[in-house]
Amino acid sequence: MDLYKVLVRPYLISGLPADPELLHNMTVNFLSWLDRDEISPIALGINSLLKQSCRLTDSRLKQTLWGLEFNNPLGLAAGFDKNGDASGIWENLGFGFAELGTCTLNAQPGNPRPRMFRLPLDLAALNRMGFNNCGAEEMATKLASRWQSNPRSLRLGINLGKSKVTPLEEAAADYLGSFKLLKNWGDYYVVNVSSPNTAGLRSLQEASSLSIILDALQQENQGNKPILVKIAPDLTWEEISEVITVAKTYQLAGIIATNTTISRTGLKTKIISATGKAITEEAGGLSGAPLRQHSTEIIRFIWQQTQGKMLIIGTGGVFTAEDAWEKITAGASLLEVYTGLIYEGPLMVRHILEGLLIKLEARGLSNISEAVGLQS
Ligand code: FNR
Repeated sequence: MDLYKVLVRPYLISGLPADPELLHNMTVNFLSWLDRDEISPIALGINSLLKQSCRLTDSRLKQTLWGLEFNNPLGLAAGFDKNGDASGIWENLGFGFAELGTCTLNAQPGNPRPRMFRLPLDLAALNRMGFNNCGAEEMATKLASRWQSNPRSLRLGINLGKSKVTPLEEAAADYLGSFKLLKNWGDYYVVNVSSPNTAGLRSLQEASSLSIILDALQQENQGNKPILVKIAPDLTWEEISEVITVAKTYQLAGIIATNTTISRTGLKTKIISATGKAITEEAGGLSGAPLRQHSTEIIRFIWQQTQGKMLIIGTGGVFTAEDAWEKITAGASLLEVYTGLIYEGPLMVRHILEGLLIKLEARGLSNISEAVGLQS
C-alpha cells in the first residue's frame, strides 16, 4: 500500500491549513537525520525499508554521461535540498542523481513568507523562495563532512545562483566564488540564470551577460567538471537559440530545460487561499503539470537545433512514466522532478522507472539511451 497517497496526499489537497514550507523543512530535516544516523535501529530500519520499496536497479536504465555512471535517468530537481542537508538519502529514495541548491555565494534568508504554495486543482506549485540558502562556504563544509571519507555512487549536481546583494554586473564573480568553494563536491554544476525570484536574474540569460559568467567559470574549471545552464520556459525560441550558441561557444556539458514559469495561463486555480489574492497577482514561478507540455517542446527544440549533440536534462511536470517517456523521446537524457513528488510521494520514482522499462521492452530497446530523441 502507498502510505503517502493514503495518509499524506489527502491532507495536502484538502485545503486544510498546512504551511507547505514548514512541511517541506520537516521532511528535509527528517531525511537529513536518516542520511546521517548510521547507528540507531530506527534509522537503519527506515533506510532499509526505503531501499526495498523505492529503489529499482536495472542495467537498462544505466547510462554513462560525461564519463560518469548514472544508475537511472531520474533525478531530484534543484530547490528541494537547497543546502545539501540530505545529500546521501536520495539514492535510497530511488533517484539516479540529485541536484543540490540553488546555492549562492552569500548565505541569505530569501523572500518574506509565505512563499511556497500548492495548487492542487492544477497539480502545480507556486514558489517565490528567493534562493534561501546557507551560502556556498557552509554547503561545502556540509558536503565535506558527509563525503570526505565515504564513497558515493549517487551522482550529485550543484546548482549555483547569484546572491541577492550582488549587483547584476558583478554576477560572474559571485558564481565563480561559489564554484571555487564547491568544485570538489559536485559531479556537475548548473548555472542558474532562470529563477524568476531574484530581481533581474533572468536577464543574465542574454548572450552578453551569460558569456561573461561562463567564461569566468570555464577558466577556473579548465574542463574538469561538466557545467550546464538552466533556462526559463518563458524565453522566446530566438532567445533559446542564442543560449544554445553561447553554450556551444563555452563548451557547456548541457542545458537544463526548464525552470519554473511566470505564465499563469490556463490555470483552474483562481485564488491562493493562503493570501486571499488572485493567482495572477501573486509573484513567483509555477511548476508541475501546467509546465509539462511547454518544457517538453523546449527540449525538442534544443535537440533539433543541436542535432542531438547537446545533452539535455528535462524538467517540468513529470509525474508518470508517460510524462518521462515524452521528455526522453523529445531529447532529454536525464530528467528531474520536484512538484510530482509533492503529489505522488516518494514511490513515484520507482513507478516511473518501472513504466520506462515496460516502454523499452515494448519497443525492443535495450537501454534508455536508445530512446533519447526518438521522437524528435
Ligand atoms: C524550485 N525550482 C528551483 N530551481 C532552481 O534551479 N533552483 C531553486 O532553488 C529552485 N527552487 C524551487 C523551489 C520550489 C518550491 C519548486 C517547486 C521549484 C525549480 C525546479 O528545480 C524545477 O525546475 C521546476 O519546479 C520544474 O519541475 P517540476 O517541479 O514541475 O517537476
